[in-house]
Amino acid sequence: MLSKRLEKAINDQINFEYYSANIYLAMEAYFAKQNLNGFVNFFKVQIQEENFHASKFFDYLNQVGANITIKGFPDPKNDYKSPLEVFEAALKHEQIVTSRINNLMSIANEDKDFASIALLQWFVNEQVEEEDTFNNAIQTLKRIGDNPAALYLYDQELSSRTFVPPTNTPSAGQNQ
Ligand code: FEO
Repeated sequence: MLSKRLEKAINDQINFEYYSANIYLAMEAYFAKQNLNGFVNFFKVQIQEENFHASKFFDYLNQVGANITIKGFPDPKNDYKSPLEVFEAALKHEQIVTSRINNLMSIANEDKDFASIALLQWFVNEQVEEEDTFNNAIQTLKRIGDNPAALYLYDQELSSRTFVPPTNTPSAGQNQ
């Protein structure tokens, strides 16, 4: 059985994952305005990832008979000035997510809650990938600089990103 402290912290994380999706929707809107459709696709996929993360926590709470409480969140930033600014903000956001997942893991460890530890280990690994994705994009955008032809090629490349739901993960989130 989940401790009340962990139940609340996972509920907060469900909210934060949906908040992440909303932040990325505002980023998608920036690229839609620039007609950079590969970047638009990148963020559409990212939003699917965040919804998947939220569902995974949601399904886990449901499976273990915990209470689920849905809350709102603040407006996301809507005034980005460049692709690089967008991706630097996204990386900063993912670093916050990572520290939140680490905090959840600390609570689960203190509780000796082995089921939650197994779930959270998946998220620990996922955050390594999440940060790597944005880090790579930042490095590429720095190399592109002010070269519109290179930006066009990178946009083409990002149009091939697709969302593939993981199949071998703990909790019912695998069915999402
Ligand atoms: Fe749900 Fe991008 O971490």
